[in-house]
Amino acid sequence: MTTDAKILSALRANPDGVSGAQLADQLAISRAAIWARMDELRKVGYDIEASPHFGYKLVSSPDALHADDLLARLGKTKVIGRDIQVFEQTTSTNDVVEKLARDGVREGAVVFAESQTKGRGRLGRKWSSPTRKGLWFSVLLRPGLPPQEATQLTVISATALRRAIKSVTGLSAEIKWPNDLLLGGKKVAGILTEMSAEVDCVRHIIIGIGLDVNQDADEFPPELHRIATSLKIEAGEEISRAELATEILRELDTEYAHIGAGNFPEVADEWEAACVTIGRNVTVHIGDRKLRGRAESLDDDGALLVRTEHGHLERITGGDVILEK
Ligand code: BTN
Repeated sequence: MTTDAKILSALRANPDGVSGAQLADQLAISRAAIWARMDELRKVGYDIEASPHFGYKLVSSPDALHADDLLARLGKTKVIGRDIQVFEQTTSTNDVVEKLARDGVREGAVVFAESQTKGRGRLGRKWSSPTRKGLWFSVLLRPGLPPQEATQLTVISATALRRAIKSVTGLSAEIKWPNDLLLGGKKVAGILTEMSAEVDCVRHIIIGIGLDVNQDADEFPPELHRIATSLKIEAGEEISRAELATEILRELDTEYAHIGAGNFPEVADEWEAACVTIGRNVTVHIGDRKLRGRAESLDDDGALLVRTEHGHLERITGGDVILEK
Protein backbone atom coordinates (compact mmCIF):
# COMPACT_ATOMS: atom_id res chain seq x y z
CA MET A 1 0.00 0.00 0.00
CA THR A 2 1.17 3.54 -0.70
CA THR A 3 1.57 6.08 2.13
CA ASP A 4 -1.65 7.85 1.10
CA ALA A 5 -3.54 4.55 1.08
CA LYS A 6 -2.23 3.78 4.58
CA ILE A 7 -3.22 7.25 5.81
CA LEU A 8 -6.74 6.98 4.37
CA SER A 9 -7.07 3.51 5.78
CA ALA A 10 -6.05 4.74 9.28
CA LEU A 11 -8.45 7.70 9.03
CA ARG A 12 -11.33 5.38 8.10
CA ALA A 13 -10.44 2.97 10.91
CA ASN A 14 -10.53 5.91 13.39
CA PRO A 15 -13.66 7.96 12.59
CA ASP A 16 -13.23 10.04 15.77
CA GLY A 17 -9.72 11.07 14.80
CA VAL A 18 -6.16 9.81 14.96
CA SER A 19 -3.14 11.79 16.21
CA GLY A 20 -0.24 12.81 13.98
CA ALA A 21 2.15 11.10 16.40
CA GLN A 22 0.24 7.82 16.18
CA LEU A 23 0.15 7.97 12.37
CA ALA A 24 3.85 8.85 12.16
CA ASP A 25 4.62 5.91 14.40
CA GLN A 26 2.39 3.49 12.47
CA LEU A 27 3.76 4.51 9.07
CA ALA A 28 7.37 5.01 10.23
CA ILE A 29 7.60 8.53 8.75
CA SER A 30 7.92 11.99 10.37
CA ARG A 31 4.95 14.04 11.61
CA ALA A 32 5.96 16.72 9.10
CA ALA A 33 5.67 14.15 6.30
CA ILE A 34 2.20 13.16 7.56
CA TRP A 35 1.18 16.83 7.61
CA ALA A 36 2.44 17.27 4.02
CA ARG A 37 0.47 14.21 2.78
CA MET A 38 -2.70 15.49 4.51
CA ASP A 39 -2.26 18.74 2.62
CA GLU A 40 -1.96 16.89 -0.70
CA LEU A 41 -5.05 14.79 0.09
CA ARG A 42 -7.01 17.97 0.86
CA LYS A 43 -5.96 19.36 -2.53
CA VAL A 44 -7.61 16.41 -4.31
CA GLY A 45 -10.84 16.90 -2.38
CA TYR A 46 -10.57 15.02 0.94
CA ASP A 47 -11.96 17.13 3.78
CA ILE A 48 -9.58 16.34 6.66
CA GLU A 49 -9.93 18.26 9.92
CA ALA A 50 -6.93 18.73 12.17
CA SER A 51 -7.32 19.60 15.83
CA PRO A 52 -4.82 19.48 18.72
CA HIS A 53 -7.31 17.46 20.76
CA PHE A 54 -8.59 14.81 18.27
CA GLY A 55 -5.77 14.83 15.73
CA TYR A 56 -6.72 14.20 12.09
CA LYS A 57 -10.29 13.32 11.19
CA LEU A 58 -11.75 12.45 7.76
CA VAL A 59 -14.92 14.51 7.35
CA SER A 60 -15.76 13.67 3.73
CA SER A 61 -14.29 12.16 0.57
CA PRO A 62 -14.55 13.51 -2.98
CA ASP A 63 -16.73 11.81 -5.58
CA ALA A 64 -13.72 11.36 -7.86
CA LEU A 65 -12.15 7.90 -7.73
CA HIS A 66 -8.59 7.65 -6.34
CA ALA A 67 -6.54 4.49 -6.53
CA ASP A 68 -5.12 4.99 -3.02
CA ASP A 69 -8.58 5.47 -1.57
CA LEU A 70 -9.94 2.38 -3.34
CA LEU A 71 -6.98 0.33 -2.07
CA ALA A 72 -7.51 1.66 1.45
CA ARG A 73 -11.23 0.91 1.43
CA LEU A 74 -10.70 -2.55 -0.06
CA GLY A 75 -8.04 -3.74 2.37
CA LYS A 76 -6.43 -7.09 1.73
CA THR A 77 -7.89 -9.34 -0.96
CA LYS A 78 -6.70 -12.66 -2.34
CA VAL A 79 -6.39 -11.65 -6.00
CA ILE A 80 -8.76 -8.95 -7.25
CA GLY A 81 -7.61 -5.37 -6.66
CA ARG A 82 -4.05 -6.07 -5.54
CA ASP A 83 -3.15 -3.33 -8.03
CA ILE A 84 -5.56 -0.54 -8.90
CA GLN A 85 -5.11 2.30 -11.38
CA VAL A 86 -7.50 5.17 -12.06
CA PHE A 87 -7.36 7.16 -15.31
CA GLU A 88 -9.15 10.48 -15.73
CA GLN A 89 -9.85 9.48 -19.34
CA THR A 90 -8.88 6.62 -21.60
CA THR A 91 -10.07 5.00 -24.83
CA SER A 92 -11.35 1.78 -23.23
CA THR A 93 -10.24 0.26 -19.92
CA ASN A 94 -10.33 -3.16 -21.65
CA ASP A 95 -7.60 -1.90 -24.02
CA VAL A 96 -5.48 -0.62 -21.12
CA VAL A 97 -5.76 -3.97 -19.33
CA GLU A 98 -5.04 -5.85 -22.57
CA LYS A 99 -1.72 -4.01 -22.70
CA LEU A 100 -0.99 -4.83 -19.05
CA ALA A 101 -1.75 -8.48 -19.83
CA ARG A 102 0.69 -8.52 -22.75
CA ASP A 103 3.31 -6.88 -20.49
CA GLY A 104 2.98 -9.85 -18.12
CA VAL A 105 1.27 -8.03 -15.23
CA ARG A 106 -0.04 -10.46 -12.60
CA GLU A 107 -3.75 -11.24 -12.41
CA GLY A 108 -6.03 -9.15 -10.22
CA ALA A 109 -4.98 -5.76 -11.63
CA VAL A 110 -7.93 -3.37 -12.00
CA VAL A 111 -8.14 -0.26 -14.19
CA PHE A 112 -10.86 2.36 -13.73
CA ALA A 113 -11.49 5.36 -15.97
CA GLU A 114 -13.58 8.39 -15.04
CA SER A 115 -14.58 8.52 -18.71
CA GLN A 116 -13.90 6.52 -21.89
CA THR A 117 -13.69 7.91 -25.40
CA LYS A 118 -14.09 4.49 -27.05
CA GLY A 119 -16.02 2.49 -24.48
CA ARG A 120 -17.39 -0.61 -26.16
CA GLY A 121 -20.03 -3.20 -25.42
CA ARG A 122 -20.67 -6.69 -26.72
CA LEU A 123 -21.17 -7.36 -30.43
CA GLY A 124 -19.25 -4.21 -31.42
CA ARG A 125 -21.71 -1.83 -29.78
CA LYS A 126 -20.67 1.55 -28.40
CA TRP A 127 -20.77 1.98 -24.59
CA SER A 128 -21.59 5.45 -23.33
CA SER A 129 -19.23 6.34 -20.44
CA PRO A 130 -19.85 9.92 -19.27
CA THR A 131 -17.41 11.52 -16.82
CA ARG A 132 -17.84 10.41 -13.18
CA LYS A 133 -21.39 9.21 -13.76
CA GLY A 134 -20.73 5.51 -13.55
CA LEU A 135 -18.15 2.84 -12.90
CA TRP A 136 -16.17 1.97 -16.02
CA PHE A 137 -13.47 -0.57 -15.22
CA SER A 138 -11.69 -3.76 -16.27
CA VAL A 139 -10.11 -6.62 -14.35
CA LEU A 140 -7.24 -8.84 -15.51
CA LEU A 141 -7.58 -12.57 -14.75
CA ARG A 142 -5.43 -15.60 -15.54
CA PRO A 143 -7.73 -18.40 -14.40
CA GLY A 144 -6.04 -21.43 -15.97
CA LEU A 145 -9.38 -22.69 -17.34
CA PRO A 146 -10.06 -24.27 -20.72
CA PRO A 147 -11.61 -21.65 -23.09
CA GLN A 148 -15.03 -23.36 -23.11
CA GLU A 149 -15.33 -22.70 -19.36
CA ALA A 150 -14.67 -18.97 -19.66
CA THR A 151 -18.41 -18.18 -19.42
CA GLN A 152 -18.01 -19.00 -15.72
CA LEU A 153 -16.22 -15.67 -15.29
CA THR A 154 -19.12 -13.69 -16.74
CA VAL A 155 -21.43 -15.59 -14.41
CA ILE A 156 -19.38 -14.82 -11.28
CA SER A 157 -19.00 -11.17 -12.35
CA ALA A 158 -22.75 -10.73 -12.74
CA THR A 159 -23.31 -12.37 -9.35
CA ALA A 160 -20.70 -10.15 -7.67
CA LEU A 161 -22.20 -7.03 -9.26
CA ARG A 162 -25.69 -8.00 -8.18
CA ARG A 163 -24.62 -8.65 -4.60
CA ALA A 164 -22.69 -5.37 -4.37
CA ILE A 165 -25.64 -3.38 -5.76
CA LYS A 166 -27.91 -5.04 -3.19
CA SER A 167 -25.65 -4.31 -0.23
CA VAL A 168 -24.90 -0.68 -1.16
CA THR A 169 -28.33 0.43 -2.49
CA GLY A 170 -30.79 -2.23 -1.29
CA LEU A 171 -31.91 -2.74 -4.93
CA SER A 172 -32.40 -6.28 -6.28
CA ALA A 173 -31.15 -6.45 -9.85
CA GLU A 174 -32.14 -9.18 -12.26
CA ILE A 175 -29.69 -10.87 -14.59
CA LYS A 176 -30.30 -11.24 -18.31
CA TRP A 177 -28.08 -13.92 -19.79
CA PRO A 178 -25.20 -13.67 -20.16
CA ASN A 179 -24.02 -10.26 -19.15
CA ASP A 180 -26.72 -7.69 -18.42
CA LEU A 181 -28.08 -6.48 -15.11
CA LEU A 182 -31.58 -5.07 -15.14
CA LEU A 183 -33.59 -2.92 -12.75
CA GLY A 184 -37.31 -2.56 -13.47
CA GLY A 185 -36.70 -4.25 -16.83
CA LYS A 186 -34.09 -1.65 -17.91
CA LYS A 187 -30.38 -2.26 -18.28
CA VAL A 188 -28.20 -0.81 -15.50
CA ALA A 189 -24.93 -2.68 -16.14
CA GLY A 190 -23.17 -4.77 -18.75
CA ILE A 191 -20.13 -7.02 -18.77
CA LEU A 192 -17.72 -7.42 -21.68
CA THR A 193 -15.56 -10.53 -21.30
CA GLU A 194 -12.59 -10.66 -23.68
CA MET A 195 -10.25 -13.61 -23.82
CA SER A 196 -6.87 -14.55 -25.20
CA ALA A 197 -6.44 -18.32 -25.36
CA GLU A 198 -4.51 -21.29 -26.72
CA VAL A 199 -6.53 -24.28 -27.94
CA ASP A 200 -6.80 -25.86 -24.50
CA CYS A 201 -5.99 -23.07 -22.04
CA VAL A 202 -6.93 -19.46 -21.43
CA ARG A 203 -3.92 -17.11 -21.49
CA HIS A 204 -5.79 -14.24 -19.91
CA ILE A 205 -9.32 -12.91 -19.56
CA ILE A 206 -10.39 -9.30 -19.25
CA ILE A 207 -13.66 -8.60 -17.48
CA GLY A 208 -14.90 -5.14 -18.47
CA ILE A 209 -17.73 -3.78 -16.35
CA GLY A 210 -19.89 -0.78 -17.10
CA LEU A 211 -22.34 0.26 -14.38
CA ASP A 212 -24.62 3.30 -14.72
CA VAL A 213 -24.55 4.90 -11.27
CA ASN A 214 -25.40 8.58 -10.97
CA GLN A 215 -27.00 9.64 -14.27
CA ASP A 216 -30.34 11.42 -14.23
CA ALA A 217 -32.87 10.20 -16.81
CA ASP A 218 -32.21 13.16 -19.16
CA GLU A 219 -28.48 12.45 -19.15
CA PHE A 220 -28.84 9.25 -21.18
CA PRO A 221 -28.58 9.56 -24.97
CA PRO A 222 -32.11 9.62 -26.50
CA GLU A 223 -31.75 6.13 -28.02
CA LEU A 224 -31.17 4.67 -24.51
CA HIS A 225 -34.07 6.40 -22.69
CA ARG A 226 -36.45 3.47 -23.01
CA ILE A 227 -33.93 0.72 -22.28
CA ALA A 228 -31.36 2.04 -19.77
CA THR A 229 -31.46 3.23 -16.18
CA SER A 230 -29.06 4.17 -13.37
CA LEU A 231 -28.84 3.28 -9.69
CA LYS A 232 -29.57 6.91 -8.81
CA ILE A 233 -32.82 6.87 -10.83
CA GLU A 234 -33.91 3.59 -9.21
CA ALA A 235 -32.77 4.34 -5.65
CA GLY A 236 -33.84 8.00 -5.70
CA GLU A 237 -30.50 9.19 -4.32
CA GLU A 238 -26.86 9.73 -5.29
CA ILE A 239 -24.69 6.64 -4.73
CA SER A 240 -21.06 6.64 -3.53
CA ARG A 241 -19.13 5.23 -6.49
CA ALA A 242 -16.04 4.49 -4.39
CA GLU A 243 -18.04 2.47 -1.86
CA LEU A 244 -19.79 0.58 -4.65
CA ALA A 245 -16.56 -0.06 -6.56
CA THR A 246 -14.91 -1.48 -3.45
CA GLU A 247 -17.86 -3.71 -2.69
CA ILE A 248 -17.89 -5.08 -6.27
CA LEU A 249 -14.16 -5.89 -6.13
CA ARG A 250 -14.57 -7.57 -2.73
CA GLU A 251 -17.45 -9.73 -3.98
CA LEU A 252 -15.57 -10.56 -7.16
CA ASP A 253 -12.55 -11.64 -5.12
CA THR A 254 -14.77 -14.00 -3.09
CA GLU A 255 -16.47 -15.43 -6.19
CA TYR A 256 -13.19 -15.88 -8.04
CA ALA A 257 -11.84 -17.92 -5.14
CA HIS A 258 -14.91 -20.17 -5.51
CA ILE A 259 -13.95 -20.92 -9.10
CA GLY A 260 -10.38 -21.73 -8.03
CA ALA A 261 -11.77 -24.11 -5.40
CA GLY A 262 -14.08 -25.82 -7.93
CA ASN A 263 -17.26 -24.43 -6.34
CA PHE A 264 -18.72 -22.93 -9.49
CA PRO A 265 -22.00 -24.91 -9.31
CA GLU A 266 -22.97 -23.10 -6.07
CA VAL A 267 -22.37 -19.69 -7.64
CA ALA A 268 -24.31 -20.81 -10.70
CA ASP A 269 -27.33 -21.70 -8.52
CA GLU A 270 -27.44 -18.17 -7.09
CA TRP A 271 -27.01 -16.74 -10.59
CA GLU A 272 -29.77 -18.93 -12.02
CA ALA A 273 -32.21 -17.88 -9.28
CA ALA A 274 -31.69 -14.21 -10.28
CA CYS A 275 -31.75 -14.84 -14.02
CA VAL A 276 -34.86 -13.55 -15.82
CA THR A 277 -33.91 -15.41 -18.98
CA ILE A 278 -34.59 -18.89 -17.60
CA GLY A 279 -38.14 -20.05 -18.32
CA ARG A 280 -38.72 -17.34 -20.94
CA ASN A 281 -39.31 -17.59 -24.67
CA VAL A 282 -36.28 -16.13 -26.39
CA THR A 283 -34.96 -15.27 -29.82
CA VAL A 284 -31.22 -15.74 -30.11
CA HIS A 285 -29.18 -14.04 -32.84
CA ILE A 286 -25.77 -15.63 -33.41
CA GLY A 287 -24.13 -13.91 -36.36
CA ASP A 288 -26.57 -14.42 -39.26
CA ARG A 289 -28.32 -17.30 -37.52
CA LYS A 290 -31.62 -16.79 -35.70
CA LEU A 291 -33.09 -19.32 -33.31
CA ARG A 292 -36.35 -19.30 -31.35
CA GLY A 293 -37.13 -21.35 -28.28
CA ARG A 294 -37.51 -21.53 -24.52
CA ALA A 295 -34.51 -20.92 -22.23
CA GLU A 296 -34.53 -23.97 -19.94
CA SER A 297 -31.43 -23.72 -17.75
CA LEU A 298 -27.70 -23.15 -17.50
CA ASP A 299 -25.21 -25.96 -18.00
CA ASP A 300 -22.22 -26.59 -15.70
CA ASP A 301 -20.08 -24.05 -17.58
CA GLY A 302 -22.63 -21.25 -17.54
CA ALA A 303 -23.86 -21.74 -21.12
CA LEU A 304 -27.60 -21.22 -21.79
CA LEU A 305 -29.63 -24.28 -22.78
CA VAL A 306 -32.45 -23.39 -25.15
CA ARG A 307 -35.16 -25.86 -26.26
CA THR A 308 -35.83 -24.76 -29.83
CA GLU A 309 -39.24 -24.63 -31.45
CA HIS A 310 -38.18 -27.87 -33.22
CA GLY A 311 -37.54 -29.61 -29.90
CA HIS A 312 -33.73 -29.69 -29.97
CA LEU A 313 -31.69 -28.57 -26.97
CA GLU A 314 -29.14 -25.95 -28.11
CA ARG A 315 -26.17 -24.85 -26.02
CA ILE A 316 -25.72 -21.08 -26.39
CA THR A 317 -22.38 -19.49 -25.44
CA GLY A 318 -22.68 -16.12 -27.18
CA GLY A 319 -24.85 -13.93 -29.36
CA ASP A 320 -27.75 -11.64 -28.59
CA VAL A 321 -30.62 -13.01 -26.55
CA ILE A 322 -33.95 -11.17 -26.84
CA LEU A 323 -36.64 -11.90 -24.26
CA GLU A 324 -40.03 -12.37 -25.93
CA LYS A 325 -43.26 -11.25 -24.25
C1 BTN B 1 -22.35 -4.75 -22.79
O1 BTN B 1 -23.37 -4.66 -22.11
O2 BTN B 1 -22.42 -4.89 -24.01
C2 BTN B 1 -21.00 -4.70 -22.10
C3 BTN B 1 -20.61 -3.30 -21.70
C4 BTN B 1 -19.26 -3.23 -21.05
C5 BTN B 1 -18.78 -1.82 -20.83
C6 BTN B 1 -17.51 -1.77 -20.03
S1 BTN B 1 -17.10 -0.16 -19.45
C7 BTN B 1 -15.52 -0.69 -18.96
C8 BTN B 1 -15.02 -1.64 -20.03
N1 BTN B 1 -14.37 -0.89 -21.10
C9 BTN B 1 -15.05 -0.98 -22.25
O3 BTN B 1 -14.72 -0.43 -23.31
N2 BTN B 1 -16.14 -1.75 -22.08
C10 BTN B 1 -16.25 -2.26 -20.74
